[in-house]
Amino acid sequence: MSKERGQWGTKLGFILAAVGSAVGLGNIWRYPYVAYENGGGAFLIPYFFALFTAGIPLMVLEYSIGHKFRGSTPMALARANKKWEWLGWWPSINSIIILMYYSMILGWALNYFFLAFSRGWGDDPNGFFFGQFLGLTDSPWNLGEMHWYILVAMAFIWFMNWYVCYKGISAGIEKFNKIVLPTLLVIMVIIVIRGLTLPGAVQGLETLLHPNWEKVLDYKVWIAAYGQIFFSLSIALGVMMTYASYLPKKTDIVNSAFMTALANSGFEFLAALGVFSILGYMANVQNVPVSEVVKGSIGLAFVVFPQGMNMMPGIFKVLLGVLFFGGLVFAGLTSSVSMVEAFSSPIIDKFGISRKKIVTTIAIVGFVISSVFATGAGLYFLDIIDNFINSFGLVGVGLMEAIIIGWFFGTHKVREHVNPISHYPLGRWWDVTVKYITPAVLIYMLTNNIIGNIVKPYGDYPISAVVILGWCVVAVTITAAVIIASKRWPEKTLTDYED
Ligand code: PHE
Repeated sequence: MSKERGQWGTKLGFILAAVGSAVGLGNIWRYPYVAYENGGGAFLIPYFFALFTAGIPLMVLEYSIGHKFRGSTPMALARANKKWEWLGWWPSINSIIILMYYSMILGWALNYFFLAFSRGWGDDPNGFFFGQFLGLTDSPWNLGEMHWYILVAMAFIWFMNWYVCYKGISAGIEKFNKIVLPTLLVIMVIIVIRGLTLPGAVQGLETLLHPNWEKVLDYKVWIAAYGQIFFSLSIALGVMMTYASYLPKKTDIVNSAFMTALANSGFEFLAALGVFSILGYMANVQNVPVSEVVKGSIGLAFVVFPQGMNMMPGIFKVLLGVLFFGGLVFAGLTSSVSMVEAFSSPIIDKFGISRKKIVTTIAIVGFVISSVFATGAGLYFLDIIDNFINSFGLVGVGLMEAIIIGWFFGTHKVREHVNPISHYPLGRWWDVTVKYITPAVLIYMLTNNIIGNIVKPYGDYPISAVVILGWCVVAVTITAAVIIASKRWPEKTLTDYED
């Protein structure tokens, strides 16, 4: 089976696919408001700290292990040591669970793309979004109505996931990213240029960049920075190891990791510039401080942005909205495709099921399960599951990866693999980071997350919802990972590869 593994056509194709996975909803709607809420300009300090102490080092780690052992996340880790295979299944399962709600947000974005042509959200985008559009119920256990327009949009998203992954690595994922990613960049640049030339843009940027130094001392800000880096870079999610396994033998790993990470951060800043200059304009029109127009995560894209469109001059009333929501769909699709790949590739590797069969099965079953999110309780499901997978799944996997590779596998072995093929060799700084700094910070975060969630259960939800959709989902992902890992591999699969 290993002989049939797909390969990227070019290194650029791989970088584009990896950047495509990284750049997603996390960059466009999540980053701007997380940065704002966590100290504005001062957030850059924990952000860069997290990027250099966890983001890039773990990216190098994942690329190296995937490349060295030439397998999807569980196969690569099992080849390193059979005992670690479960740690490959865990993030792969997390990715497919994230996709259940990620496809819902993409379904919203697709609807808003069409609404943008006529600004169908009307004069009250807030009431429209939560009321008419989502029909949000009063509790996660009250599903309310199924919204066919969200369901149809989600069906389209799943169709695209299916279509791209069905075609395979270079003819599917690589080609798709080669078209979509440059388009997305053009869209973002247009939005940013228009944004920056609006009256009030400067106040918007000042709000984003103005440092609130007190916040730098708050540990929650640091947790937010690490969370943002993990989610945004798609690390500890089973994607990057798997993607790196499709690389040709001689590929500059260190350079690829830096390029992916920096491109992702570049996109993040670009999105923040665009969003905040538009917020500045809105504040300017209404003559209020920018802080009054900024809203939380989901609100920013689906409530505040439409409000902004209503106030735009001339043709930009329509154009900016169409570009923004179109861009959101594009950015999200390249990420969602990578989530399907993170889950299907291990199954192809281990169970020898054909790509076409497994991708089709995942698309159908995935769509059916994620249809629950098209009900009036979808937003609640998203909120709880997202919080728990991010706080425990991502941090837990990142921590285990650093410990296993840093302390048991040996960082020198990774350097020995990577340095002969990389232009800039990996220095000792990497060993120190993976062995000490990353684990120390992540242990601290995980402990705080666990205590925090026990002392004060997440959100204002019924406790049963937090237990079932939160704690139980995390428990199920780990248990499933351990069970699948206990199954036998076809003979010789784990030993037959050239590193
Ligand atoms: N990195 C993506 C984003 O920023 C999200 C993602 C999660 C991608 C899991 C792949 C796997 O939106």
